[in-house]
Amino acid sequence: MEPSLFLSHGQVRAIQREFGTPVYVYDEATLERQARQALGFPCPFGLTARFAMKALPNLTILRLLHDLGLHIDASSGYEAERAQRAGIPPEHIELTAQELPHNLASLVEAGVQFNACSLAQLTAFGERFPGASLGVRVNPGLGSGHNNRTNVGGPSSSFGIWHEYIPRVLETARALNLHITRVHTHIGSGGDPDVWTTCARLSLDAAARFPEVATLNLGGGFKVARMPGEKAANLQEIGEAVSGILRQHGESHGRQLKLEIEPGTFIVANAGALIATVMDVVDTGSGGYRFIKADAGMTDVLRPAIYGAQHPVTLVAASGEAQPAAEYLIAGHCCESGDVLTPEPGNPEGLLPRTLPGARIGDALVIGGAGAYCSAMCCKNYNSFPESAEVLLRKNGEVHLIRKRQTLDQMLANEMLL
Ligand SMILES: Cc1ncc(COP(=O)(O)O)c(C=O)c1O
Repeated sequence: MEPSLFLSHGQVRAIQREFGTPVYVYDEATLERQARQALGFPCPFGLTARFAMKALPNLTILRLLHDLGLHIDASSGYEAERAQRAGIPPEHIELTAQELPHNLASLVEAGVQFNACSLAQLTAFGERFPGASLGVRVNPGLGSGHNNRTNVGGPSSSFGIWHEYIPRVLETARALNLHITRVHTHIGSGGDPDVWTTCARLSLDAAARFPEVATLNLGGGFKVARMPGEKAANLQEIGEAVSGILRQHGESHGRQLKLEIEPGTFIVANAGALIATVMDVVDTGSGGYRFIKADAGMTDVLRPAIYGAQHPVTLVAASGEAQPAAEYLIAGHCCESGDVLTPEPGNPEGLLPRTLPGARIGDALVIGGAGAYCSAMCCKNYNSFPESAEVLLRKNGEVHLIRKRQTLDQMLANEMLL
């Protein structure tokens, strides 16, 4: 069995040897395939597909996706600046942020598009740019996501302006002479076309209340299958369902709304794997568990520890000869009992051993599905472990370093010894 969707055993060993571990590997061919699917999302009146850069903000990845035709969804003023450092034109960047960016004025003056996510943000934008156009992020009252931590719509979510406050949005816009030309929603909708249809309908109900709206942004949230047996979102199917609703809206309201989507996970999750090394193998006796201790953990892949997220793990023996299989838990390298890569699905408190070939110190572990929210959302520098290296596997088979491993000097660069 190959250790990930895109790496052979030989490639794993070669990357482990050449770059050291832990190291993230991203696959250009998968990135390209996923980007093309997003760009082909069916849509009757025009589409802008954005990459939600929060999922994986490495400069090379941003540039690669930009070159394929994706625009950018940024979620902070820093992300919007970072995208520009990758060479992305400001007018390709849309900013939808929980925190009003410190650099909002310069970003907007450069051409970055802004979605206000609260009444306070709307007022702040309007006072700085009276008469300008912008979008608003609306919480349409519906949530979706596998738990409260990934649910970004409905009454338990602070994201966006609660739909019942739309009259106040309109009043504020009138007072500041603002033009609301885009309605944005993102509820983390998974793979079910029916849920997307409901979400699109609710979002269009919200959009219908804004006379100048020309664009509907439905956010991201397209599910991928990381583990065997999981079902991925079918963008064609979802797009057809959403297109029907957009057409109906067009007929009943006499306007053809452009659509935006902004997937993160869908583009990069299965385009990334983390290669780690087995540092130790221990057990807790006959009634206990067998543990593989990896040289990576919550400093690299935090999702299992906070969501009980499941990532496929493959063991690649250093010597080539397979050992008899056994059940293992995989512990990360942090001094933290929650640093476990094999929790129970959806339950970070629980443990679920995996069957792997017999592990020996020095073997490689390949943690799949590690392209989204892993390097980007890790527990950086805990226990003073450095940020891991990142490499890109090109379509021609070459492997290029795209982020060096952090050094201790870099970690300490801003500290002062009094
Ligand atoms: C506003 C917005 N758009 C897009 C995304 C991307 O979501 P996903 O990675 O599930 O596609 C997110 C994720 O949190 C988001 O908050």
